[in-house]
Amino acid sequence: MSRLSILWLTAALIGAMWTGELRAQAPQGGQGGQQATALPDGAGKELVQRACTACHGVNQITNSTGYTRERWQALFSTMIKLPDPQAATVAQYLGTHFPPKPGREPKLVPGPVQISFREWQVPTLGQRSRDPVQSPDGMIWWAGHWGNIVGRLNPRTGEMREWTLPQGARPHSITSDRAGNIWYMGNGNGTVGKLDPKTGQATVYILPDPAARDPHTPAFDRNGVLWFTVQNGNMVGRLNPANGDIRLVKIPTPDADPYGMDIDSKGVPWVALTGTYKIARIDPVTMAVREYPVPDQKSRIRRVAITSDDMIWYVNYSLGRLGRLNPVTGEVKEWQSPSGEDTQPYAIVAVDDIIWYNESRRRPDALVRFDPKTERFQSWAFPSGVGTLRNLRATADGNLLVHQTSVNRIGVVTINRSTTTSSR
Ligand code: HEC
Repeated sequence: MSRLSILWLTAALIGAMWTGELRAQAPQGGQGGQQATALPDGAGKELVQRACTACHGVNQITNSTGYTRERWQALFSTMIKLPDPQAATVAQYLGTHFPPKPGREPKLVPGPVQISFREWQVPTLGQRSRDPVQSPDGMIWWAGHWGNIVGRLNPRTGEMREWTLPQGARPHSITSDRAGNIWYMGNGNGTVGKLDPKTGQATVYILPDPAARDPHTPAFDRNGVLWFTVQNGNMVGRLNPANGDIRLVKIPTPDADPYGMDIDSKGVPWVALTGTYKIARIDPVTMAVREYPVPDQKSRIRRVAITSDDMIWYVNYSLGRLGRLNPVTGEVKEWQSPSGEDTQPYAIVAVDDIIWYNESRRRPDALVRFDPKTERFQSWAFPSGVGTLRNLRATADGNLLVHQTSVNRIGVVTINRSTTTSSR
């Protein structure tokens, strides 16, 4: 057993002994053990070192924007349940040594469009809830990446239920098929799985190449074929649910890190290559890959979204820009995000040909709307405030499904159609 995993285990055990509530599976997908960053001395330091490293390094704390004692307590209570005296000590320590510091606030742009946020905290703490998606029956599903969980929210009643996946799967993302099965990307063990909510059984597909590590983002095409990116394996995959056939292709650029994906009106998948400055087109029949560079080689594109005119919109994470690739001419246009260069735009979706994305480096994380016709921005802060929106999708009625990984929340953003100029 490597030293790293012993550290994980120890941290996990201590956490479990203290609380009796930290689920054994919660830290397994985390990134604990990265404890190189030193914490300042003071009462509570040891506690923080033990309680806060089961899932991630203390760098999450030292790099944070800082909070008051009360806000620290509210924040970490979404990750771990500590007995009262320990929680008070930890909050006191963090509030003293990591008080709020300015500089991470978003520059919010006012405008005429009204939206409303509804957020739910999911049951298992610190699970890294993400990538909510709607199934045909109107339920909202999420992936609990570090908790090895798939969860379901009934947005009408607020009722939630969680399923633990086969060991080691660690779902990076999920999507729903037309029958309401939930397909997950087994990021931890190179699998793709299908959870049947009626039976609670998962069908597991092992990717046919051991190099296909890190299945990442899924999307169904209109024929019901499942496409997915394989980030570390530098591949794109295609799974035919009718017979379980899986085909994988390599991306020509080494270490291109295929990441987000969307499918255009002709059924062609487009993939953000976040390890380089390119977007890839995958031929839906032959799976031939064609790469489209964007002008600035420092660009790192997380995700793409496609409008009805088949323009490829993208979030330029490293340069804080929104971009548009015209796939016919190869022409690229970019706009600076309202809060500037250091904003790390992360998730993106097109709804009724309006672009929505976020400024993930800001605290609070900011949701941004861009109208391609007027080239105007408008933006809002997430109410829960602390966390990262990593993938954006729409509901059937054109609202947004959101999440915040740090505060363990998923949510729905309802767009008030009477305040938009488009048809709905
Ligand atoms: C059970 C797992 C778990 C434990 C234990 C845990 N965290 Fe976290 N923490 C998370 C997850 C998940 C995130 C989001 C990481 C991501 O999005 O990559 C996070 C993120 C954070 C962040 C970043 C906030 C931001 O700006 O987005 C801070 C600060 C933080 N944790 C503090 C703490 C502290 C303090 C403790 C101990 C009291 C703690 N964590 C224990 C799961 C955990």
